[in-house]
Amino acid sequence: MDTSLFERLGGEQGIRNIANDVVDLHRVNPVISARFAQSDVSALKESVATFFIAGSGGPQVYTGPDMRSAHQSMNIADNEYMAAVDDVMQALSNNGIGDAEKAEVLYIFYNLRPDVVGV
Ligand code: HEM
Repeated sequence: MDTSLFERLGGEQGIRNIANDVVDLHRVNPVISARFAQSDVSALKESVATFFIAGSGGPQVYTGPDMRSAHQSMNIADNEYMAAVDDVMQALSNNGIGDAEKAEVLYIFYNLRPDVVGV
């Protein structure tokens, strides 16, 4: 059987490191940082980590809202979506994740786009 994306992203600790980096990059990305000005950073990191762990085949259960509900009424624009995806790709690179896994993550994020942009 193929190794799950969860394992190839470094398991729970690897994904927690990636999620922490994603949130830190969002908070300094000039296109989207204002969106996170009021965030409870550690709670957001925990939620993003469990979302990634559950979505990549890991054991953790994600108990947060679905992506449409989480981004409802934010009116997120295409350029903000691209900025967020850039941060995710950067965080993967920073954690030594290879191109094949980055492509898989990109595909998952692309499929979530209709639930996040303009909802
Ligand atoms: C496919 C792309 C995306 C995914 C998978 C994603 C994932 C998530 C997750 C898991 C949460 C936490 C939900 C919760 O626990 O309440 C969240 C919250 C949030 N997301 Fe996204 N997101 C995406 C794109 C974006 C974009 C493009 C923006 C806009 C720049 C954005 C802005 C936010 C904000 C402002 C929050 C709430 C933060 C807070 O509660 O402090 N997201 N997102």
